[in-house]
This record gives sequence, C-alpha cells and structure tokens, in this order.
Amino acid sequence: MKVIGISGSLRKASYNTALLHVFLKNAPTAIEVEFASIDALPFYNEDIEAPYPSAAQELKSQLLDADGFIIATPEYNRGVPGILKNMIDWMSRPAGTSPFKQKPVLVIGASDGNIGTAVAQASLKHTLLHLDAIIPGRPEFYVSRAQDKFNEAGELTDEKTLEHVQSAWQVLAHNLESAAR
Ligand code: FNR
Repeated sequence: MKVIGISGSLRKASYNTALLHVFLKNAPTAIEVEFASIDALPFYNEDIEAPYPSAAQELKSQLLDADGFIIATPEYNRGVPGILKNMIDWMSRPAGTSPFKQKPVLVIGASDGNIGTAVAQASLKHTLLHLDAIIPGRPEFYVSRAQDKFNEAGELTDEKTLEHVQSAWQVLAHNLESAAR
C-alpha cells in the first residue's frame, strides 16, 4: 500500500506541510509514504491541455501509483488555495483519468485561526467527491491556532494533535484495506 501526501501550501514554513510531514513520519510500517510536490504545475488552461504538460504528466504518473492520499489544505478566504485547486483541475483532465477515483483521501488542515480550515476542507471534500474519491466522514482533522501547536522550528509540540495523527492513520489504513478488496 502506498499513500501520497500533498500540501496546498508552497510556503517554506508552512504549518500544513509540517503537519503533513508529521503524518508521513508516523505512517504504519506496512504503508509506504511519499510526498508529491505541486509547485511545478502551470496554471490550468484548456488551450495547453494537449499535449499534456510534462509537469502535469509527471505528477499524474506519481499519483496514479498511490492507493490513497493525505491532502493538507490551508484555508484562504474561507476557501481552498488556488494552487491546490489548480492541481486537482489538472489531475482531473482529460476527463475520466483522475488519480483520486475510488481511492481514500484523508483531508487535513492547519490554520492560525479558530476553525482550523473547516470551510476550506468542506469545499475540498466536495470537489474530491465529484471526482469519485472515497471521503470518509471520520476522522475530521482540523488544527486551529497552529502557532500554538508548532514551535519555531516547525515541529509539532502538541501531544493531543500527535495522538490524533496516530488514530487518524488507523482509520486511513482500514479504509485503504477496504478500498483494495
Ligand atoms: C489566510 N489565513 C486564513 N486563515 C483561516 O483560518 N481562514 C481564512 O479564511 C484565511 N484566509 C487567508 C487568506 C490568505 C490569502 C492568507 C495568505 C492567509 C491565514 C492562514 O491560515 C495562515 O496564513 C496559514 O499559516 C496558512 O497555511 P500554511 O502556509 O502555514 O500552511
């Protein structure tokens, strides 16, 4: 089983990328994990869809090889950051070739506000459901006030969040097995 992690932030000191790496580090030993970078993608434009750009093709080949995903989304103005939506739009084309189809996706997110990306996550889940991804109702993973839970080196210092990472993995591992049957 392979799980690929995607972060919707390009920022070096991103809480979302840091949170995602906590997940990748705490994966069950039977699950292979990999990080996929989305920063080389051009802006989606139907005029440049064929031939499919090499950056999009490379990412799609990488994602097609996964059995499931963890996507960490920031919340920008109560929505999904453009670069993350751009990645999904590229991966959804040509129609019917999405790497998310029938695969479990765990959506997570961290913000400096009080609702921990809940609104962005709802929107992201809606888009992924449209692409026929498997989006379980639980666990929900909202990290609010991330500045109080990560130290200046970007390390997670909040024990409860770490426990939540471990229990979320158990559910994701179960969902991966169910999807593979
Ligand atoms: C934000 N931020 C933010 N936070 C939030 O909880 N709800 C929101 O709607 C917004 N809106 C928003 C818009 C824009 C353009 C920016 C740049 C920021 C703050 C955001 O949560 C914070 O910058 C996080 O640190 C971004 O995630 P990364 O980059 O740390 O992963």
